[in-house]
Amino acid sequence: MMKILVTGASGNVGHFVIEELLNMGEHVVAAGTNVNKLKGRFKGKVDTVYFDITNQSTYDVALKDVDRVFLMRPPHLGKPEDLYPFIDAMKVRDIKLVSFLSLMGVENNPIPPHHKIEKYIEASGLPYAHIRPGFFMQNLSGIHSAEIREKNQVFVPAGKSKTSFIDAADIGLATAILLHHPDQYRNTSHTITGFEALDYNQIAAILSKVTGRQITYAKPGYWKYRKYYIKKRGLEKGYVNVTVALYFMTRMGTAKKVTEDFLKLSGRNPRTFEEFARENIRCFLNKETI
Ligand SMILES: NC(=O)c1ccc[n+]([C@@H]2O[C@H](COP(=O)([O-])OP(=O)(O)OC[C@H]3O[C@@H](n4cnc5c(N)ncnc54)[C@H](OP(=O)(O)O)[C@@H]3O)[C@@H](O)[C@H]2O)c1
Repeated sequence: MMKILVTGASGNVGHFVIEELLNMGEHVVAAGTNVNKLKGRFKGKVDTVYFDITNQSTYDVALKDVDRVFLMRPPHLGKPEDLYPFIDAMKVRDIKLVSFLSLMGVENNPIPPHHKIEKYIEASGLPYAHIRPGFFMQNLSGIHSAEIREKNQVFVPAGKSKTSFIDAADIGLATAILLHHPDQYRNTSHTITGFEALDYNQIAAILSKVTGRQITYAKPGYWKYRKYYIKKRGLEKGYVNVTVALYFMTRMGTAKKVTEDFLKLSGRNPRTFEEFARENIRCFLNKETI
């Protein structure tokens, strides 16, 4: 039986793609640079392979007996060209579908690297199914959760803008459906969003309701946010700059669109932010409430 290669297997989306593919009876190879992490996480349910997208010598083993691929761009790789050698390697093999984790709106926005990566995949002649999600709910339970826990603040420079947040678990399900039906979804694109667009005051209100604490939206400006994340949180400059650019775009209204693509693919509505916050409440609890 041919296998499906899942890159970024330990990431927000990748591990849900794997769980859903296993539910569908598919044979999966989980790929990443930390194989021990993958072995621990999936405990014999999948094959694992060492895969570094910046190292071409890792491609052959990763693509052995593989006929479909979930491709994600590791967030620290800012240049679209970083993904081209791997796309070239897939091109010369018998791949039935590549599902690339892209970004909502990139078809009309050449600035994010995903735009050129999509175009490169299309030009290569590989059968593709692009997944273009909105912002992940996991940004709040992950990168932005420290301020929620420690300061009761949502610290994001998004002004009054609205975002159609989607749970990465739903993105994983939608992606698995595409990969499970490669002929049906050949050369298609899917904009996957949450059920509704919320501003960050609404996000703070839902988090307050779920945690029982008063959580507010701090609404910092770009520079305050950038300085705090680089100086206080110690995050890499390049990464913080990309997030500033994304919040700038969000303020322009690029993150608020709501689509029915998830419903069409899966037959059900995407998870709401309140459901997500309840399910992931441990990420938002502070010392007093644990
Ligand atoms: N956050 C959002 O709101 C949002 C919205 C739309 C689109 N996106 C896009 O989604 C992507 C991120 O997905 P995610 O959140 O699921 O990822 P993630 O949780 O940030 O995980 C990153 C993954 O990349 C792997 N990785 C790191 N370096 C690698 C390398 N050199 N070669 C191969 N794999 C490597 C890591 O595995 P190892 O540690 O095992 O290497 C890890 O599994 C980005 O391209 C982002 O632009 C994000």
